[in-house]
Order: sequence, then structure tokens, then C-alpha cells
Amino acid sequence: MNVFNKLGLTTGAIAFLVLAGTLIPKTSYAEKGAAASQDPAVVRTRQQIKMLDDLFKNAIVLIDQTYVKNPSDTSAAAAGKALFAAMKKSGWYEVRLLGLTDTIGDPDDLPKDNFEKSAALKLRPGGNQTVEEVIQKDGKGYLRMATGIPVVSEHCVMCHANFKGDKGNVGALSYTVPLIK
Ligand code: HEC
Repeated sequence: MNVFNKLGLTTGAIAFLVLAGTLIPKTSYAEKGAAASQDPAVVRTRQQIKMLDDLFKNAIVLIDQTYVKNPSDTSAAAAGKALFAAMKKSGWYEVRLLGLTDTIGDPDDLPKDNFEKSAALKLRPGGNQTVEEVIQKDGKGYLRMATGIPVVSEHCVMCHANFKGDKGNVGALSYTVPLIK
């Protein structure tokens, strides 16, 4: 008598469990990089995040170029974070500004959980790839996505001396957005 029979499992049940294991959809696409989910809700939500990402990054760079003249001026990062807090308060979604270098101005910008830490490692070398993962929280599905922030202008170096000559992503935006059903 083998160990499975002792546990009361028939060969059929074992075969079913093995099959089920291969059929249960994977919720993390981050590890594979390429094989992103084609689930329509994920595709819709990914599209929304890409639109928000473009909007936020353009707004932050415009604020930086237009209003920030001296190192003592309020940074575009602080303005962006105030905007993110307002969006979260309205109940839309959550987005966090992350710093990926060794010099972080605000400890709140350190990558926090496993998703953010592994996204930080993947994004740090540079390129415009994104990292994503589908999660369930209190019975609701969310798409988490992290996108890189490179040193887009010499102006950044006025306040972040360590960014000089950095060709990688020095920061990231980390989104947690409810799946659009
Ligand atoms: C006026 C000075 C100033 C300029 C110019 C500036 N930053 Fe910042 N940046 C800051 C400050 C201050 C913080 C921390 C602010 C906070 O989180 O409230 C910060 C935070 C950040 C962070 C989050 C990590 C951290 O250190 O907290 C990133 C990423 C970042 N800036 C990137 C940029 C980029 C890219 C540019 C150029 C487009 C830029 N910054 C221009 C002052 C500046």
C-alpha cells in the first residue's frame, strides 16, 4: 500500500489535483515578464493605469519645469504626492512614488512590500518595461503595476546630486487599481 492510498486518495483524485494545479490561473505575471494576462478586466485596468501614468508623469515634469526654480522650492514630487493622496481619499485607487536609489528624501518613498521590492530590482537598471501582479483583497481583484522614472532632465540634479549620469530608473510609480469589470 503506498502513501497516497493511506491518505485515502485514489489515483483519479491525484490526477485531478495535478490537473487542477495546472489549470488554476496564475495571479502573478511579474516573474515571467512577457506573458501578461489577457483577461479582459486586467487588459482594461492596465490601459487605465497606462493613461494615468502618462498623465501623472507629464504633470510632474511640467510642474518641475514651470514652477521649480531653486532647491528650496516645493518639489514636483511633493505636489505629485499631494495629488495621489487626494485621489486615494476620493476612493479611486492608490499610487505611491518610490525611490530606487540609495539616497531617499522621504522614508515613505522606500519600496515597502514584496511587490514593490521586487519591482524596484527589476526597474532599477532602466528601460520602459512595467511590472504587474493581480491580487485579491477582501474578495475584490486589483491590478498592481509599477512603472519606472528615469532622470528626464538635468534639472533633477539640482536637488538630487546622486542622479547625475544615472541611466537607469531612479524612481517608480506603484499603482494598486481595482479591476474594471
Ligand atoms: C526642488 C528640488 C527638486 C527637484 C528639482 C527634483 N526633486 Fe525629486 N524630490 C525632491 C524632494 C524634496 C523629494 C522628497 C519629497 C517628498 O517625498 O515629499 C523628492 C523625491 C523624489 C523621488 C522619490 C524618492 C525620494 O527621494 O523620496 C523621486 C523618484 C524623484 N524625486 C525624482 C525626481 C526627478 C526625476 C526629478 C527631475 C524631473 C526631480 N526629482 C526633481 C526634490 C526635488
